[in-house]
Amino acid sequence: MAIPEEFIQELKSRIDIVDVVSSYVSLKRSGRSMMGLCPFHNEKSPSFSVSRENGFFYCFGCGAGGDVITFIRKIENLDYVESIKLLAGRAGMTVPENGRNDGMGKLRNRIYEANREAARFYHKQLYTPQGRQALDYLRGRNLSEKTIIHFGLGYSPSERFELVNYLKAKGFSQEELYAANLANQSKRGYPFDRFSDRVMFPIIDLRGNVIAFGGRIMSDVKPKYLNTSDTPVFNKSRSLFAMQFAKNKANGQIILVEGYMDVIALHQAGFENAVATLGTALTNEQAMLIKRYCDEVIICYDADEAGQKATQRAIDILRPTGLNIRILTVPSGKDPDEFIRSHGDQGSARFRMLLEKSGNDIEYRLAKLRAGYNLNHSAQKVEFLTRAASLIAGIENPVEQDVYISSLSRELDVQKDALSRLVEKDSGKRNRQRRREEQRRISTELSAANDRMNTEKHLNLRAANAEEALISLIILNPDTAVRLRDKLRPEDFITMFDRRIYEILEKRLSEGLEITMADLSGSFSTDEMSRIARMLASHPRENDPDHAAEEYISVLREEAGRLTPEKAAYADNDTIMEQLRKMKEKKR
Ligand code: UTP
Ligand code: MN
Repeated sequence: MAIPEEFIQELKSRIDIVDVVSSYVSLKRSGRSMMGLCPFHNEKSPSFSVSRENGFFYCFGCGAGGDVITFIRKIENLDYVESIKLLAGRAGMTVPENGRNDGMGKLRNRIYEANREAARFYHKQLYTPQGRQALDYLRGRNLSEKTIIHFGLGYSPSERFELVNYLKAKGFSQEELYAANLANQSKRGYPFDRFSDRVMFPIIDLRGNVIAFGGRIMSDVKPKYLNTSDTPVFNKSRSLFAMQFAKNKANGQIILVEGYMDVIALHQAGFENAVATLGTALTNEQAMLIKRYCDEVIICYDADEAGQKATQRAIDILRPTGLNIRILTVPSGKDPDEFIRSHGDQGSARFRMLLEKSGNDIEYRLAKLRAGYNLNHSAQKVEFLTRAASLIAGIENPVEQDVYISSLSRELDVQKDALSRLVEKDSGKRNRQRRREEQRRISTELSAANDRMNTEKHLNLRAANAEEALISLIILNPDTAVRLRDKLRPEDFITMFDRRIYEILEKRLSEGLEITMADLSGSFSTDEMSRIARMLASHPRENDPDHAAEEYISVLREEAGRLTPEKAAYADNDTIMEQLRKMKEKKR
């Protein structure tokens, strides 16, 4: 919907960016701007600034920035029109409904509608003869009728055109089905169902829209779960399965599990604050989302080695948010779903017991660490204590630190003072290291703003970084590059410098020519070549280049959707340079 220009002007005059941001971030005055901890990345000292005067925010740490609408879009994960509606509500204004739909907003709405219809279709299939085995499968996994309905579970038929035909009959175009990732395009160019012969789990956002699906195969065929790829309405690293239910039941606490079935089994057993990531490791964005609804997370991953590794990673992501972290380990290698099922009627009560005795992450890490040492051996004992001290040094709260120092010194029969000193020494080292890291980060930012080759980079940090990553990836992985050609056009590049590089790369690819650094030098000056070399140097070879490329491309698409003319207007070079200089001075 195109919102009349005058409406937006009026809205902007009524909305104060500092007020809006303050309801999400605690801000303190610092010179001419307000500073706080960035809500878009994890940090311990504030690099997030808001200027009331100039009506924009900018994070010197992660490069997130924009006007107040951008802020709402980012933090609430809404599109432009939706963000305007939210802000208008705050200002006591009503958005005029007579405008036409804008392109992207319209597509997003069509995707929501297609997804909702698809979810209905899949659900109905459960009660047809062809869906019978799926229904039996779900029942066999102990799910009640009520649970199946509550989660809107379904079945995607094995014949690969049923959903496509159904949605076409409802008026959806091929393009809309591709955009929703409900259909793939066959070699001959026609759409076929993405999901076939799978049990379907709809993924629903906080406002009740169906944004994606997970589909489980009922046999041993791989992949076990197939998920919707990122679309204009779905970003897997920002969503959590069942968060729409859990946010209302959190009561200060969220249980984080690995799988769809774990979530569903837990909800059915009365633990409606369980959520899961969508087949990926926990991200910062998800940690921030959790943080908005609770202050304690219980990580309850599988007991296998992969699950334990994932636990460590999740702790590292969660700790900087200040969330209280506890770890629940399900005994005998089961996942939460298997555990509950194996205890029949007692499942719920038994899980509650595990919950109650789950320890915090420091206890968990200390216990893990301890298991690796023979403490009767003095050299090993010293080694253990040194590493334990380093762990404790990482705790921010001195009272909490003291608790662990006391109990460790008691248990291992060492002087408390000695252990305290060890912890202090490590804390000092840690602080110095943190300061150094921040300095380094800021000088990187400075050089980004000073980037003479890519003068647009500082305005489009996230996009330019993805572009640079793609360029290195293409140069380093010509096979991937060939496969990318259909998906990535020069116009997808946002900064002109990077676009120019890709134009040349793409042209070479289309002519079947090689692309190495040397092949480029004819087209670029020496300074430009140094710049490209820097991209390569800062992007080591990817393990899975095809997958990484997909990710970077989706970043580019996302950023392209976010680019508005206003953005360029306020974030002028001088303001940002001035801010950066101030930041740097303060750190000295
Ligand atoms: P698991 O393999 O642990 O499966 O994957 P599960 O949740 O226990 O599933 P069931 O009980 O066998 O049905 C954990 C999660 O990882 C993602 C899914 O989100 C799954 O729930 N996953 C797993 C995928 O996305 N793709 C896969 O092929 C496998
Ligand atoms: Mn399982």
